[in-house]
Amino acid sequence: MVNFNYYAPTQVVFGRGAEDNLPCLINKYGGTKVLVHYGGKSAIKSGLLQKVEDMLSGAGIAYVKLGGVVPNPRLSLVHEGIELCRKEGVDFILAIGGGSVIDSSKAIGYGVGYDGDVWDVYTRKYEPQSCLPIGTILTIPAAGSEMSDSSVITNDNGDIKIGFSSNLCRCKFAIMDPTRTFTLPAWQTACGVTDMMMHTMERYFSKEDDMEITDALAEGLIRTCMTEGTKALKEPENYEARANIMWAGSLAHNDLTGCGTIGDWATHHIEHELSGMFDISHGAGLAAVWGSWARYAREENMPRFARFAKNVMGIDITGMTDLEAAEAGIQAMERYFESIGMPTNIHDLLGKEVSDAEIEKMADIASHGDTHTLGALKVLKKADIIAIYNMAK
Ligand code: NZQ
Ligand code: ZN
Repeated sequence: MVNFNYYAPTQVVFGRGAEDNLPCLINKYGGTKVLVHYGGKSAIKSGLLQKVEDMLSGAGIAYVKLGGVVPNPRLSLVHEGIELCRKEGVDFILAIGGGSVIDSSKAIGYGVGYDGDVWDVYTRKYEPQSCLPIGTILTIPAAGSEMSDSSVITNDNGDIKIGFSSNLCRCKFAIMDPTRTFTLPAWQTACGVTDMMMHTMERYFSKEDDMEITDALAEGLIRTCMTEGTKALKEPENYEARANIMWAGSLAHNDLTGCGTIGDWATHHIEHELSGMFDISHGAGLAAVWGSWARYAREENMPRFARFAKNVMGIDITGMTDLEAAEAGIQAMERYFESIGMPTNIHDLLGKEVSDAEIEKMADIASHGDTHTLGALKVLKKADIIAIYNMAK
């Protein structure tokens, strides 16, 4: 087991009616002027936004609002948020939504304390020294941003999507009421389940083989996502299914399943170029490329892929070679993705062919012009990334 430093400081308040704790939590974490940040329409339609406004007003907590965060959140709205926070003297951000709203909040939080363009944080030109405190009411379990140290922002000028990680931006609290996720469309539910499974698999497919406790947690987590995901798609108002998925989404990305392993993350980087260029859903993009990545990288630790086939996909691998077992496991996961409506290649993802020029551009950005590599299980150069995009075509 490799050394690790586990840090998961977010207070989680979970269950029916959890949002009633909002004013106490904002007071606890020192918010006196709040930016209420949200997405397109779901928080308005469900009445959640109004309820939050009523609770804040009732508790005498001042606030301003900024809606309009889109999936693959844009830098332009982040700039608007920074200006608003400065003008209004905001000292706390409340993100109502999912990964996109939380990530936009994190970027705003970094930007308020920096005189330059906050994009410098994402391009690594500037290391942020502070972030406004953030709390969230999570409405879609998927990205795990409610407990992660990451945020991923798309620069509208060039459609480049870049992530940045720092403990500074970790949410102070995350309010999670599974009933708030009953309204999720099937597509978003499936994308979310895929993303959380992938957050676990990125850490699971490691060269390390001696972290039994972490493996057991990871395998249980992925199996739970699969069974409860299928259930939630059939019965969108099944509380237990929604609750299991919601908690799984946080556990999948608060690094619990990364303790003692070395995460790979190549599939995520390869996907981020797709969602940056084509504005597609992150979870669907992951499903479209994972099988190709797995077939390309598996030779680096074939027994681990065989173990995945047995312990996660429930395949009887007796008498199979490691390669046969690995392939059976990968195929079974692809069939699962298809069963929940996810694409397993780029053509099905985009509804059109991806061109060689587009692949070249994505691989070039992902590898910083072939000066950086991706992955840890198998280290990928630009040519390897191109090969994976081609396999996934
Ligand atoms: O805008 P509204 O109307 O709210 O609609 C949203 C949005 O269209 C809808 N939605 C949310 N809650 C709903 C709902 N619809 C009905 N009922 C509800 N209760 O769902 C759509 C997707 O929301 P979004 O926040 O984009 O989804 P997700 O949580 O999957 O976030 C995706 C973003 O997170 C990034 C992704 O790259 C992508 O940009 N990621 C962030 C990570 C992190 N910060 O740690 C890690 C991830 O790997 C990921 O990269
Ligand atoms: Zn993800």
